[in-house]
Amino acid sequence: MDDDTLIQAAIAVRERAYAPYSNFRVGSALVTPDGQLFVGCNVENASYGLAICAERAAICAAVAAGHQQFAAVAVASSGGVSPCGACRQVLMEFGDMSVILVDVDQEHAVRRHALSELLPHGFSL
Ligand code: THU
Repeated sequence: MDDDTLIQAAIAVRERAYAPYSNFRVGSALVTPDGQLFVGCNVENASYGLAICAERAAICAAVAAGHQQFAAVAVASSGGVSPCGACRQVLMEFGDMSVILVDVDQEHAVRRHALSELLPHGFSL
């Protein structure tokens, strides 16, 4: 799968975000080494601390479908933000992967990082 397909999936699922409290929508798309795609969006709650980030929603969807290896994750947001620390740790559970940050405000400008660059010295047992 090319990066553009992954990026477009993250942008599309961001439209489904449930973010009435922050109004900050995030979409995430994961691709497996053989090209299967899984998406997630942030889902907020009136009890604010229960918000689920887009990246973790995508991981849960992929793992529930039987996948535990990922080549890349795209994250689409206003400003092209980086995954929060908790999501970096959850993504790293499944190994290093490319992280593609998509800024929906800047004509979908992208920045690319290795997850291991975003989370040096992550926790492992
Ligand atoms: N959020 C994500 O979905 N992913 C991140 O990596 C950072 C933050 C969401 C959580 C919350 O719904 C909103 O963005 C504002 O923090």
